[in-house]
Amino acid sequence: MCGIVGYVGSNNTLDVLMGGLKRLEYRGYDSAGVAVVTDGGAIDSRKRAGKLAVLAENLEAEPLAAGNTGIGHTRWATHGGPTDANAHPHLADEGRLALIHNGIVENFVELRNELLTAGYTLESETDTEVVAATLGRVYREVGDLREAFRRVVGRLEGTFTLLAVHSEEPGVIVAARHNSPLVIGLGNGENFLGSDVAAFVEYTRRAVAINENNIAVITSDSVVVTDFNGEPANVQPFEVEWDAASADKGGWSSFMAKEIADQPEAIANTLRGRIGDGTVSIPELEGLGDEALRAIDRIVIVACGTAAYAASVAKYAIEQWSRIPVAVELSHEFRYMNPVLSERTLLISVSQSGETMDTLMAVKYARERGVKTLSVCNTQSATIPRESDGVIYTHAGPEVAVASTKAFVAQIVALYLFGLHLARVRSSLSTAELANITTQLSEVPEKLSEVLEVGGSIHNLAHWMADTRSVLFLGRHVGYPIALEGALKLKEISYIHAEGFAAGELKHGPIALIEPGQPVFVLVPSPRDDSTMHSKVVSNIQEIRARGARVIAIAEKGDAAVLPFADEVIPVPLAEPLIQPLLSVVPLQLFALELSTAKGLDVDQPRNLAKSVTVE
Ligand code: F6R
Repeated sequence: MCGIVGYVGSNNTLDVLMGGLKRLEYRGYDSAGVAVVTDGGAIDSRKRAGKLAVLAENLEAEPLAAGNTGIGHTRWATHGGPTDANAHPHLADEGRLALIHNGIVENFVELRNELLTAGYTLESETDTEVVAATLGRVYREVGDLREAFRRVVGRLEGTFTLLAVHSEEPGVIVAARHNSPLVIGLGNGENFLGSDVAAFVEYTRRAVAINENNIAVITSDSVVVTDFNGEPANVQPFEVEWDAASADKGGWSSFMAKEIADQPEAIANTLRGRIGDGTVSIPELEGLGDEALRAIDRIVIVACGTAAYAASVAKYAIEQWSRIPVAVELSHEFRYMNPVLSERTLLISVSQSGETMDTLMAVKYARERGVKTLSVCNTQSATIPRESDGVIYTHAGPEVAVASTKAFVAQIVALYLFGLHLARVRSSLSTAELANITTQLSEVPEKLSEVLEVGGSIHNLAHWMADTRSVLFLGRHVGYPIALEGALKLKEISYIHAEGFAAGELKHGPIALIEPGQPVFVLVPSPRDDSTMHSKVVSNIQEIRARGARVIAIAEKGDAAVLPFADEVIPVPLAEPLIQPLLSVVPLQLFALELSTAKGLDVDQPRNLAKSVTVE
């Protein structure tokens, strides 16, 4: 949710902080703030409600005093609305201490009452100000920032990443993490902290992942990480795989437009080194062991939002190839359903960010019950893969737009690779079948490039539909989760009511929604498929057309049967049924993008949302 950056070094601290916040703004963008420990031995800070640009403009007019230590924050509101007062940093100890926070402190009422009883006054509605004031109070007692911080952190319940600076201890940032992300960037004569590596990748690609319940103290030339008791902690240094340029818009009108266009490359990178010679090899899965994979009798995939739809597509493939039942559960429901788990269950989590709190908690819940866990993740060294027994990284590159696109297709491909690996280990597919599917997968990047060419017709369609108040999406089999994903994309960035349905469900209720002019996107299965799905969907189209629906069919090139019944046909390249969703989702992503643009909305930063949902 919130984005956090910290810097100690001789660079221009304010520039480093604002640059880091710009790259982290996708995490939350309702207010932002910075604080610097100045060369004059004071704290200078500024915070503003609104997007980062509001703060940037203010700082341009009146910059902060220079200093070599600073912290910055971009917020997604939890406690208290997006106002200047509620924005971070929060100051305490008569302005000598500044603190920023990502997460929710659950016992803040108790801490707040203590402060009020002791005569403190608080200016905001936030849990964060309570933590800052408590830290200031303890600091006055012990006179040592590290010790005061350790004491306060030990009292907090909930989730938090915290960074604090004090003007009496310049050149030092203390930081803590508990169920909320934090990484260190290692520079030469300078060090960084960030919610993720985007905060500092412009300056260094050497990073250190910090574990749960650890405290980090950084200066310009030292990094010390301990647990909450002050005992030395293990850390995992790693090299960031991508550079700052890959997280830039690179001339595109929005990150989302760029990320849609990136999809062929995202798939190629996710496949690279994992398929070849007609088979699949995923070295990362060695840790899970073939024996363990042969023993599993059930797979549960946990994920949220778009990642859950990717899992729902992959369920069809994994079951078909491995003949193991797969259940897809929303992570936030999973823990509360008293799920049936055994040592023969494999839990797979799917998360672009690797930080989604609901998914992290589902993984922890399963592990505590002895279940083996595998993570499908797009973010190196994120918390969820580190909490799992194995990981398959989707090499989609950084995804910045809030609406997920390239991560979605990469997640499907990574799960497909896992399904094939499982089928190979369990001999549930013949060598020829395996070779055939790997060939189909290897052709996806090229077909994706082809489908991207429908951009022009989608542009016209979206402009024509800019005033539409509701759009429906229908699909069958793997087309069903794609219909759900198409609806989610549209809701998220266009604020238009949209719903996805299984086409077969229509007559059980949703067909009542159809009235003259109602736009309905229909995902049409291939007519070459020997099942009756194609004719069933064409019948569904006729049923809704008869009631006045305006049908936009996403159909395979050359599908003549659908032409007489659709108002618009968006052609996608020929592909086997399980490959089709990787292609047919693209026109829906483009449609959401174009409609949002036609309405003049902020495509990359839709209202009320944040990219990474790190609170439950
Ligand atoms: C929608 C979207 C969200 C995420 C969901 C899970 O476009 O991006 O629905 O898919 O919040 O996020 P991750 O994959 O980071 O766990």
